[in-house]
Amino acid sequence: ARWLLGYLLAVKIPTVSFSASEQNTTALKEFDQLLRRVFPKIFSSSLVQHEMVGNYSHLLTVPGSEPDLEPYMLLAHIDVVPADEADGWDAPPFSAQELNGFIYGRGTIDNKQSVMGILQALEYLLEQGYTPRRSFYIGLGHDEEISGPQGAVNIVKLLKSRGVKLLYVLDEGLTIMDGVVDGLIGPGALIGVSEKGQATVKLSVSTPPGHSSMPPRESSIGILASAVTRLEKNRMPNLFGHGPERATFEHLAHKFGWPYRMVMSNLWLFSSLLSSVLEGQPDTNAFVRTTTAVTMFNSGVKINVMPAYAEAFVNFRIHSSQTLQEVLKLIKSTISDERVKVEFVSGFDPLPISSYDEDTFGYQIIKKTVHDIFPEVTVSPGICVGNTDSRHYTELSPDIYRFAPSWYKPGDSARFHGVNERISIQNYEEIVLFYFQLMQNSDIRNLPGPRT
Ligand SMILES: *[C@@H]1O[C@H](CO)[C@@H](O)[C@H](O)[C@H]1NC(C)=O
Ligand SMILES: *[C@@H]1O[C@H](CO)[C@@H](O)[C@H](O)[C@H]1NC(C)=O
Ligand SMILES: [Zn+2]
Repeated sequence: ARWLLGYLLAVKIPTVSFSASEQNTTALKEFDQLLRRVFPKIFSSSLVQHEMVGNYSHLLTVPGSEPDLEPYMLLAHIDVVPADEADGWDAPPFSAQELNGFIYGRGTIDNKQSVMGILQALEYLLEQGYTPRRSFYIGLGHDEEISGPQGAVNIVKLLKSRGVKLLYVLDEGLTIMDGVVDGLIGPGALIGVSEKGQATVKLSVSTPPGHSSMPPRESSIGILASAVTRLEKNRMPNLFGHGPERATFEHLAHKFGWPYRMVMSNLWLFSSLLSSVLEGQPDTNAFVRTTTAVTMFNSGVKINVMPAYAEAFVNFRIHSSQTLQEVLKLIKSTISDERVKVEFVSGFDPLPISSYDEDTFGYQIIKKTVHDIFPEVTVSPGICVGNTDSRHYTELSPDIYRFAPSWYKPGDSARFHGVNERISIQNYEEIVLFYFQLMQNSDIRNLPGPRT
């Protein structure tokens, strides 16, 4: 089928972001050519305006017939993280090979399913002669995996210069969880209403160098190791209930079996019980606190020389209810050792929390679309523990959502940025249908009034 072929070709192009300064620009150019080839309606339509931004990112503008309706925007990214077949892939990572109904390849779920799904949906709508009532934009970044400095940042600049305000933004992020949450009966679609913030700090210790035959009591390595250990042992506070993670459980409560249901429907009583269960597993712990990850530790030059210098890098992912400043203060007070120099490397506050109530157009339209395509799925707000291009869009819209309807089943978490990233052919088809339906659902003027 044509819709599948375009997607397979997209997965085969190795649009890899190797590092902050190195991307496969040959592949990015090839990808641009592919889009023009497989979506002839989009690229020849007099309705759709297409622009290249930051050399390789794409901005599409689809003007609606009713200009007073506030536009919305769909985001996805073209670049992927590196992949090495030798790590144990069942099929080469840029082969788009099919095995048992799944397409294997880097980017199949992060995030070429959205890039191609969105464009395929628009292509179909144009083929049918459809003209939207509400204008919308499509932004396809080429450097999301290296935090979007050329793509998303420049698309936002351009839209700002045009005075654009967006009713809502939908980017990648959370997925449909099926069988991965203990006790949850049936699949749940989590719509990301915020993202955690980040802080990276560099810790360093300088001591006079010396010979290892007459060592001081404490080495630079020892001093730094204790500081790092203090950070790991004294985790940041458990903040369950202070951010939107509480709403996740409240929305899903009725889908949990006994005894989970009783706990979740009575969070006023069981909040501390649930929060201590959640912090027991790394994946759920990430939802209840600012996490601490020691990622680099360097020191030493020779086996018989006391090192004059030791350094470590620690990456924190900041919970919604804390700020970057608060976290930096806590780091210093936890280390509490003048000999350890703490330097801020980079970071940002958690993203604002988008609304998810009954009157919020974007959230309700996404939710309705999920129900249209997946009637059996429960929808709930959620938090992204990673970051997306959409974090650059806060000045354009208060309501930013992170979700793509990829199915996420037991074992799939290891496929993101890992080995054997894959998508079922059926799921890719559902994703095209989802965006096709979303574009049409977004065309209503107002949400239906309060249901009685
Ligand atoms: C970059 O992409 C091109 C084609 O798209 C491919 O032939 C080449 O091997 C890629 N380079 C690297 C270093 O992956
Ligand atoms: C686009 O590419 C040119 C030449 O390769 C480079 O000098 C320029 O900085 C790039 N612009 C952006 C916004 O990436
Ligand atoms: Zn991604």
